[in-house]
Amino acid sequence: MPDPRRARVSDHATIVECVHQWWGDSRTPEQARELSLLLPKLFLQFFSGTSLVLEDESGIRAFLVGFYSADNETEAYVHFVGVDPTLRGQGAARRLYTTFFQRAAEAGRTEVRAITSPGNAGSIAFHRAMGFTLEAGDRVVDGLSLHSDYDGPGQDRVCFYRRIGRGESAFATSGWL
Ligand SMILES: CC(C)(COP(=O)(O)OP(=O)(O)OC[C@H]1O[C@@H](n2cnc3c(N)ncnc32)[C@H](O)[C@@H]1OP(=O)(O)O)[C@@H](O)C(=O)NCCC(=O)NCCS
Repeated sequence: MPDPRRARVSDHATIVECVHQWWGDSRTPEQARELSLLLPKLFLQFFSGTSLVLEDESGIRAFLVGFYSADNETEAYVHFVGVDPTLRGQGAARRLYTTFFQRAAEAGRTEVRAITSPGNAGSIAFHRAMGFTLEAGDRVVDGLSLHSDYDGPGQDRVCFYRRIGRGESAFATSGWL
């Protein structure tokens, strides 16, 4: 598999189609379409330079949509990551995050944030494996610190935080953190 490449606005339609397909098994088609609404074209129009795609001869196999805060000079944010189910567990998302960390650190960013739903155990385990800590929320359920109503009524979230910096590649690729 080649190195991740910078995303392009022309990837948008394919990425939306990937979400429909990759989540087609675990969700209804309607739910998969709803999920893809988290990826309107604006993310590729305005943040393709900080978003990444992993592709092979068959096309896009994984992607990361992320950006650097416009409100401060320290934070970077991963909005959405997706991996083809047939490629999961083989380090694709680790490669995307590692590249994102390296580029963000080179651009002077010192911290990365991301969120997920409390029920997304795979995402929580993945972010922990990538060295993220859970930011303290307002209540603890099943050992998880939750931020109640974070994205609106009933939309609780788990919030991840990780510092990045010099030497990022050595830490991130060896899995020390
Ligand atoms: C979560 C997801 C991005 C992980 O992608 P992946 O390519 O399978 O992850 P990797 O193979 O790079 O795994 C990296 C590390 O995370 C761990 N990890 C990944 N998925 C895991 C899971 N479901 N359960 C436990 N650990 C997991 C791996 O064990 C690995 O740890 P290690 O390097 O210390 O051995 C992928 O499963 C996915 O696309 N899920 C659906 C979308 C989603 O939930 N996105 C996140 C919220 S937007």
